Amino acid sequence: YGTQIINEQGHLEIGGVDTITLAEKYGTPLFVYDVKDIRDRAEQFHEAFRAQQVNYQIAYASKAFSCIAMMELADELGLSLDVCSDGELFTALEAGFPAERIHFHGNNKTPQELEMAVKEKIGCIVVDNFTELSWLMALTETEKTEMEVLIRITPGVEAHTHEYISTGQEDSKFGFDLNSGQADKAIKTILAHDYLKLQGVHSHIGSQIFRAEGFEEAVKEIYRSIKKWDTEFNYYPKVLNVGGGFGIRYAAGDEPLPLHVYIDRMVEAAKDEAENMNRPVPEVWIEPGRALVGEAGTTLYSIGSRKDIPDVRTYISVDGGMTDNIRPALYQAEYTAVLANRAAEALEETVSVAGKCCESGDMLIWDLLLPKVTQGDILAVFSTGAYGYSMANNYNRILRPAVVFVENGRHECVIEREVLSDLTRREKSYSQIRAVDP
Ligand code: LLP
Repeated sequence: YGTQIINEQGHLEIGGVDTITLAEKYGTPLFVYDVKDIRDRAEQFHEAFRAQQVNYQIAYASKAFSCIAMMELADELGLSLDVCSDGELFTALEAGFPAERIHFHGNNKTPQELEMAVKEKIGCIVVDNFTELSWLMALTETEKTEMEVLIRITPGVEAHTHEYISTGQEDSKFGFDLNSGQADKAIKTILAHDYLKLQGVHSHIGSQIFRAEGFEEAVKEIYRSIKKWDTEFNYYPKVLNVGGGFGIRYAAGDEPLPLHVYIDRMVEAAKDEAENMNRPVPEVWIEPGRALVGEAGTTLYSIGSRKDIPDVRTYISVDGGMTDNIRPALYQAEYTAVLANRAAEALEETVSVAGKCCESGDMLIWDLLLPKVTQGDILAVFSTGAYGYSMANNYNRILRPAVVFVENGRHECVIEREVLSDLTRREKSYSQIRAVDP
């Protein structure tokens, strides 16, 4: 993965930094991000679009991992940004991310969030439903401000991924349905509005997708509607946003396509369709989250207790779990790991890695082959950069880990570890209503 090597001490090294030094300095669990890996992936996407000679935007889906440093990096890498809450928008603005390159998503944006987006003059709002559309029309009229919008549609394409992370099928909470005429009605409404400027169409078919065909099918499906809109409303989109979902390698058996393959397939489909209609090729926008940061992240844990059940299984427990990585519990996601302090040693035993939560489902990895494990070893779990920290929680009142960026032999803590007092900082006793004399 990325810049990872085993150094002379037999330790796992990332970005030229010994992970054992990091574990000692910052404690565990610790998220370590390989900045060079993120840079390389952003460059691969840019390069793929440049080779296709189309206008494009690569919007980092910040739900995958969001913090000030990550937003700064995304800006530096020439990415746009997909945010889906006031919290993500706030973080981006705090980081000085240019508002005009921010796109706002979500199936239930609140009036307050829409107002924040309009007042901050962000790049575009991806309109998801009629409720939001009516709020947005009223808001831009009151503010007398124009707002660029995309319309999110569900293209009816199955992504062949876990059902919780599949979004493009017709029966979905996201977007306007193409078949029932909802999308047509929304487009007509936006085109007739003075302040909303319809830039184009958005679709996101799902996540952790290994087949480029899904994107091609989505483009073709959208074009079926574009042809209709062109004839009926004389509307042809400037932007075609095909969303994110590009698969990454978590464990053996995951074989992601080179990133340019996805881009080639979707852009070539758009070029063909545009040519058939004798219309210009639209700008192609994508929204990768996982593909930019997933493999760049590694989580370091300290190994604590061990339980051997003869002839059944050996459990080894780490000092984190579903509080910093809920994906195995939620999606049966698979990961792989090594002992970071003994990375060159022969693999001798099969263990299952448990988290520390009071919950049987809190397992990170089943049946992992490691050297003979001892208490105090450091376990490095790979590909935790996307939806790990961003879905972290305080279940069992466990503290959220620290996050460190590493590059060229340097390291910097970009999110501090929570401390116990953070847990009760916003809490109060209920002394005002506590019954004194029941
Ligand atoms: N665009 C939209 C509109 C999305 O909803 C998402 C993800 C993305 C882009 C980025 O998808 P990516 O390239 O990262 O796959 N928590 C789940 C993933 C949920 C994804 C939700 N939307 C997981 O851990 O796998």
